[in-house]
Amino acid sequence: MAEIVIVADAAAAGAVVADEIARLVRSQPDAVLGLATGSTPVPVYAALPSRLAGVDVSRVRGFALDEYVGLDPDHPESYRSVITREVVEPLGLDPERVSVPDGSLNGIEHAGDDYERALVDAGGVDLQLLGIGTDGHIGFNEPGSSFASLTRVKTLTRQTREDNARFFDSVEDVPRHCITQGLGTILRARHLVLLAFGKGKAEAVAAAVEGPVTASLPASAIQLHPHATVVVDEAAASDLRFGDYYRYTFANKPAWQGL
Ligand code: PGA
Repeated sequence: MAEIVIVADAAAAGAVVADEIARLVRSQPDAVLGLATGSTPVPVYAALPSRLAGVDVSRVRGFALDEYVGLDPDHPESYRSVITREVVEPLGLDPERVSVPDGSLNGIEHAGDDYERALVDAGGVDLQLLGIGTDGHIGFNEPGSSFASLTRVKTLTRQTREDNARFFDSVEDVPRHCITQGLGTILRARHLVLLAFGKGKAEAVAAAVEGPVTASLPASAIQLHPHATVVVDEAAASDLRFGDYYRYTFANKPAWQGL
């Protein structure tokens, strides 16, 4: 099963995960990072620059999980823009080594295959950051997504568009389609790190970690992964049945194991 790490707040989660990313990059300067967007990974990105100060990041590669289809890449809420603003620039990564799925309408029919090829050519993702949607999605794999799915175009649920409306002027401005790594793509990453904060995520987190493995709750796919870590604050952990056991386990974890 996934290892569940319950921390006091989002800043503490950001620190724990940023420590792990910094450890990875120090030991493997050409590490491939799987990058997420949305509010959830922000504390991780905020904690990283100080931890990577003085570390050579020129060979680090990055692959974003997803992108909106048909949104101008220069739009401030395109995931290309978000990744540039929140990750590439603050960390000083080489923009040529950071990829985001191409959501342009022109060529969208082969954009998924192109992205899969780029991921394979890069040797796969070493550490994949994940948020979780209130409907249980990871990436933009909405309920019903195949566990074998690869990068492809998906239709966003109304709930996801409403959840993301805060980044746009209105829900009507949120694109209806996206291109997202599939669950099969995500499961190939060598280490999955899923974060979630707030009571609004508690039900989805409990279902993902303790519920049945089902395409109806795409994040439950992480139960199939040999190295998955879930880092949550107390509110997002509040529906977990075995919270006390997870706390006990983490408190007694040998230091040499890392995350
Ligand atoms: P959020 O989104 O981080 O903005 O809450 C998570 C997700 O949809 O994966």
